[in-house]
Amino acid sequence: MTSKMEYKLTNNSDSWDKFEYFEPHWEERTERMAKYILPNQSVVDVGCGEMKLLKYLPDNCSYLGIDLQKRNEETVVCNFNKEALPKIVSDVYFIAGVLEYAIDPESLIKQISSNTSDTIICSYCILEDFPQNVRDDLKWANSLTQKDINILFNKNGFQVHNTFKVIRNTIFIAKRQTYIRKFLHFFGVRAYTKF
Ligand SMILES: C[S@@+](CC[C@H](N)C(=O)[O-])C[C@H]1O[C@@H](n2cnc3c(N)ncnc32)[C@H](O)[C@@H]1O
Repeated sequence: MTSKMEYKLTNNSDSWDKFEYFEPHWEERTERMAKYILPNQSVVDVGCGEMKLLKYLPDNCSYLGIDLQKRNEETVVCNFNKEALPKIVSDVYFIAGVLEYAIDPESLIKQISSNTSDTIICSYCILEDFPQNVRDDLKWANSLTQKDINILFNKNGFQVHNTFKVIRNTIFIAKRQTYIRKFLHFFGVRAYTKF
């Protein structure tokens, strides 16, 4: 990675609404990612789409979706390629199948990090698994490696505690760094509780 990440910028990054589609297999991705949300947490879902996450939330979670388009009465409409995300602080930010469309992923992660008090749950199709020609066909706006994503979270006060694959998507579970978490991490303990 160079000091300034080398994104591949396209002119198509705002055109999601022109080719919108929702894949049934994203259900599994949502379900697996949702397991890292704890009861009673507040959750903001960036690029919420059909809001599949709602049915996998544990008890007493609050939920707010942000998207290019109004998906329900509460959806906050925001195009993150044209404007800043609204300043909504939440325990968890959830971003599934969306980071690929960010013209400036570094800025999006930075904004999400500053709004997240506990956990960022993020899927991304890394460059190692999806080469540039495929990314171009899919109109993705950037090309990051797994290491790039880890560095982005680290730079913004988060540490990736867990990474796994769901249908070729890489899932990153990033926790806000606290002294006790750093201590536990040093000894190889993964902590998912709120401290
Ligand atoms: C691939 S879908 C994923 C939907 C959902 N997160 C899921 O996993 O089922 C991408 C979503 O991101 C939204 N999106 C794409 N570009 C966006 C942008 N620039 N600003 C806000 N939302 C965007 C789309 O409207 C769409 O709902």
